[in-house]
Amino acid sequence: MKLVFIGPPGVGKGTYAQAVREKYGIPHISTGDIFREEIKKGSELGARVKEYMDRGLLVPDDLVIEVVKRRLQEEDCKRGFILDGFPRTLPQALTLEEFARPDLVLNFVAREEVIIERLSGRRVCSVCGAIYHVKYMPPKVPGVCDKCGGALIVRRDDQPEVVKERLRVFREQFAPIIQFYEERDRLVTVDASEQAPVVIPRVLEILEKRF
Ligand code: AP5
Ligand code: ZN
Repeated sequence: MKLVFIGPPGVGKGTYAQAVREKYGIPHISTGDIFREEIKKGSELGARVKEYMDRGLLVPDDLVIEVVKRRLQEEDCKRGFILDGFPRTLPQALTLEEFARPDLVLNFVAREEVIIERLSGRRVCSVCGAIYHVKYMPPKVPGVCDKCGGALIVRRDDQPEVVKERLRVFREQFAPIIQFYEERDRLVTVDASEQAPVVIPRVLEILEKRF
């Protein structure tokens, strides 16, 4: 089961991917998470991607492709994977066809006001990466991760100015990707404007029918 989740920042890709990972036991690979981890570790890769991420811009293709290629070669990807946030450009999509052709691409859509509200209330666990929302998915204890007890933080790129830029980049870059998978008959568009407890079963149902 080789899946790609695409859609605007904040539409909920990571949230739905967590649910699919729990049900099917396949890894959730988020390029954004990988880069944030590298920044946290202070690695050379982290230093190279940080300036792009902090400004809401795309990281250059060669860097992203290299990271994904390496990750997909790992043992836990043999049975399948959920790619979240990759591909984002045509060169990324073309390269992915060569080394791990996706079976299905879920394209999540929601209105921009909905997305901005989701991003402005998002909190993430600084230890395990679990995703929360102050209003829609609050933790049991404010500021503390239900899963591991880690502290919840606001992502650096969720500041309003950076969010604006990420949405602009999305609008500019995504049409060709959608068309690419549509032409290859592998795109399913999912309405993600409702709450996660409604959207998640919708996603699982699509997968049950296909696999
Ligand atoms: P990345 O980490 O991929 O960010 P993104 O695509 O902007 O997506 P997000 O993680 O912001 O949102 P999401 O859709 O996963 O939403 P979530 O589930 O958290 O990329 C960050 C940066 O890395 C990029 O800007 C770029 O610089 C770089 N990068 C990454 N990949 C790259 C690539 N391939 N090429 C080049 N550069 C790359 O949900 C959001 C919030 O809403 C949460 O609070 C959640 O609790 C809540 N929520 C979710 N679903 C619902 C719902 N249905 N109802 C109510 N609330 C909900
Ligand atoms: Zn945690």
